Amino acid sequence: MTSWSLSIRTLHWLVLALVVLAWASVEAHEQFPRGSAWRGLWMQVHFHAGMAVLMLTGIRLFVRLAGRSPEPEDNLMARGARIFQWLFYPLLVALPVAGFLTAQFDGKDIALLNVLGVPALFAPSEVRADQLEDIHGDVLFALLTLLVVVHAGAALIHHFVLRDDTLRRMWRR
Ligand code: HEM
Ligand code: HEM
Repeated sequence: MTSWSLSIRTLHWLVLALVVLAWASVEAHEQFPRGSAWRGLWMQVHFHAGMAVLMLTGIRLFVRLAGRSPEPEDNLMARGARIFQWLFYPLLVALPVAGFLTAQFDGKDIALLNVLGVPALFAPSEVRADQLEDIHGDVLFALLTLLVVVHAGAALIHHFVLRDDTLRRMWRR
């Protein structure tokens, strides 16, 4: 069995954990009233998780292109799965970038690690912020959810129904 490299495996599960954290934190922030400290804190967790996804996706793209992948099988299903997997990359860039722009147009403070303040690059605009929030939180997030459900479903079918090594290759050496 040829597994994915340690770096790809680490990045794969780390990015999954960060996407879940980004989703959970934005849900958590909605439980608190506007202007409250907790609401602001959860939003910062959301920004950090999302920006980390963006940075790790850049690294992952490089590792994926430069490193080795398991021998590709030469059948239509396998080729389809590979094309499908590549869809994640543009989405994992577009989603956080749209989030970043939403925060910018909304006039929200993004202070990475509470130190690296990101300057306001655009004049605040409620209309733009609303449009971008729809693209970010509704359209792109729905697309990601759809891809993940199909992708994870396929991985589980490989593991439990077809009983092959697809999931194990992404989990261990
Ligand atoms: C993997 C990365 C990310 C995911 C999965 C994600 C997901 C989401 C979701 C599901 C919403 C809720 C939309 C709604 O309830 O209508 C949202 C809202 C938002 N996100 Fe993200 N996001 C990510 C990255 C980012 C980044 C990097 C930023 C900014 C630096 C950001 C800024 C925002 C803002 C400002 C909102 C609107 C919150 C509000 O005012 O209620 N997001 N995001
Ligand atoms: C945010 C969620 C997820 C994203 C963005 C994602 C993305 C990807 C990508 C891009 C690949 C190709 C390898 C690479 O370039 O890193 C991949 C492979 C894989 N993923 Fe995911 N994945 C997610 C969640 C999951 C989950 C929940 C499972 C399992 C239930 C899973 C199982 C696998 C497996 C088994 C492979 C290897 C497939 C093969 O060898 O052809 N992934 N994933």
